[in-house]
Amino acid sequence: MTVTLMPALPTLPAPVRPDPLGVLGVPGEINLDHAASAPCARAAADAVAELLPWYASVHRGAGALSRRCTLAYERARQTVADFLGARPDDHVIFTRNTTDAVNLLARALPAGTTVVTFAGEHHANLLPWPRGSVRLPVPASAADAVRYLDAALSELARDARPGLPVLVAVTGASNVTGECWPVAELARVAHRHGARILVDAAQLAPHAPVDVTALDVDYVALSGHKLYAPFGAGVLAGRADWLDAAPPYLPGGGATSHVGAATHEVRWTTGPARHEGGTPNLLGAVALAAVCAAFAAADRDALHAREQALLARLRSGLAALPGVVELRTFGPEAPRVGIVSFVVAGRDSAEVAAHLATRHRIGVRDGLFCAHPLARRLLTEAAARTPGAALPPTALRASVGLGTTTHEIDSLLTALSTLP
Ligand code: ALA
Repeated sequence: MTVTLMPALPTLPAPVRPDPLGVLGVPGEINLDHAASAPCARAAADAVAELLPWYASVHRGAGALSRRCTLAYERARQTVADFLGARPDDHVIFTRNTTDAVNLLARALPAGTTVVTFAGEHHANLLPWPRGSVRLPVPASAADAVRYLDAALSELARDARPGLPVLVAVTGASNVTGECWPVAELARVAHRHGARILVDAAQLAPHAPVDVTALDVDYVALSGHKLYAPFGAGVLAGRADWLDAAPPYLPGGGATSHVGAATHEVRWTTGPARHEGGTPNLLGAVALAAVCAAFAAADRDALHAREQALLARLRSGLAALPGVVELRTFGPEAPRVGIVSFVVAGRDSAEVAAHLATRHRIGVRDGLFCAHPLARRLLTEAAARTPGAALPPTALRASVGLGTTTHEIDSLLTALSTLP
């Protein structure tokens, strides 16, 4: 397939310091797979390097090294809490990643809780929930999402046992389409019905501020490795009561206040430590906090404007390529972060991804993106929009980040326009 690119692609607003976090990379390698794992920010790498000589136990030692590490860990918690706009009595619990954070909350649900989510979620926000959870259909618009939730919660109020808790669990931005979900509106609806709400912010947080107080959400989950801090830490932040009453997520040292000789003689502590049994991931927490602090000091509006210009360039360039079809849930104009999934008619997506990697040193992701129900549905809808085109059963995804350049977007478009 050989075509010429559309002549007028949107230009970047100037001048924005492109990357205030100093994202690391390898010259010549084009990383358009930030949605899977973002590269490391210089701020994270520096924070880790600075602390490494002091590395010692956390919460467990009297020595100067240990006390410094304990302080660094608890300061990291506070920095993350500030970054997320956490309420003073919220818990901020360090986990491994978003999946771990959502599983933690799933294990902390009071007995009888009904979880309501949408079929368009990432597996991390589908699979941890208990049997009997309500899975709403993928909405065609943000307004439909709000309507579906309102109707489902009204029905639950009629049918479910009164007084039992309900948790709504939604993504902030889709890892497949990048489309932003109407989190504040969904939170208002949830609270009007007496339900709580969790936001899976894994894909939203790297692109836009996520403030639990401003959004009025009860819980938020995110991953450090998608937020330029690839040192194995994630976060669950939110209301303390369910978390303090729940069985510890990782029973073990650090989660207890007293253990007796008898088999079950144990008193579990409350607070984040209840769910952080074992020696915590100090370097992960410190790296994540360093990125949070760097984001807090950055001009987020300017970063957003730059990313949106890159995204517009990518989307309009893809739209100009014959046979390329974008996947979307809410429609072409819906607000979104820098993620685009698409297919090339008549081409196997894995083969295209391999070609981009080997011939052009461009990294994208292919497959169903750990969101199989949504990706399959969108592929079916894309086929219906383009009758006669032979669309493949899996998709390609390009996702941009702080270090992405116009040249990298154009390289992808050129490579796709000259597929052999
Ligand atoms: N959840 C990550 C993705 O969407 C891994 O690629």
